[in-house]
Amino acid sequence: MTADEQKRAAGEAAAALIAPGMTVGLGTGSTAAWFVKALAARAVPDIRAVATSEATAELAASLGIPLLDLDSAGVIDLTVDGADECGPRLALIKGGGAALLREKLVWEASARCVVIADAAKTPAPTLGRFPLPIEVVAFGHASTARRIDAVLAEAGIAAKAMLRLKDGRPVRTDGGNLIYDAPCGVIPDPAALGDALKRLTGVVEHGLFLNLAERALIGTDDGVKTYQP
Ligand code: 5RP
Repeated sequence: MTADEQKRAAGEAAAALIAPGMTVGLGTGSTAAWFVKALAARAVPDIRAVATSEATAELAASLGIPLLDLDSAGVIDLTVDGADECGPRLALIKGGGAALLREKLVWEASARCVVIADAAKTPAPTLGRFPLPIEVVAFGHASTARRIDAVLAEAGIAAKAMLRLKDGRPVRTDGGNLIYDAPCGVIPDPAALGDALKRLTGVVEHGLFLNLAERALIGTDDGVKTYQP
């Protein structure tokens, strides 16, 4: 199977978890897009959805999935989303699609969160191979980046955060912020690093999703495998 076929299988397995009447969180990225398509194809009655990005909202609307905003949603029953990397106890790195802030807001408003991915993202014993996305406000962003580097050094990580560019221009998130990516290699203590980054003025959010996923559905050549923390 190709990676895309594995993503599709994981998305379809997650769509089977959605029951009538549920409020569903819709993730962002190519794997989450498969979930959104599978959800629309199942035509589960009376569902409502909250999207984690403008791109996902556009896709869901085009497929006839009723959307509401996070403030009107109350508790979301189940959010399904992709990830860039899965580590021990389903610690995740997210934000490769620059949607980490809205994703984390929706995940934290959800009773349950399921991560879906292809086999390359099978949970591994360490976290940090994928460069850690960090969302920062545009004002003074280079200064914020220097303080991010100092936090990384204090955490024993010899990495420099790099401004994310696309076509030579800084990537802007849906909220108008910038993204820095930190190629950590291995993050010895993800919770401590996440806390330290959150303490920096100018950092809006980071892509460490810890203690949030209740399971991972990983598409493989041998079917969709389930992992729990
Ligand atoms: C977006 C994300 C995505 O979930 C992550 O980048 C995975 O994307 P894909 O399913 O395309 O591999 O965190 O901010």
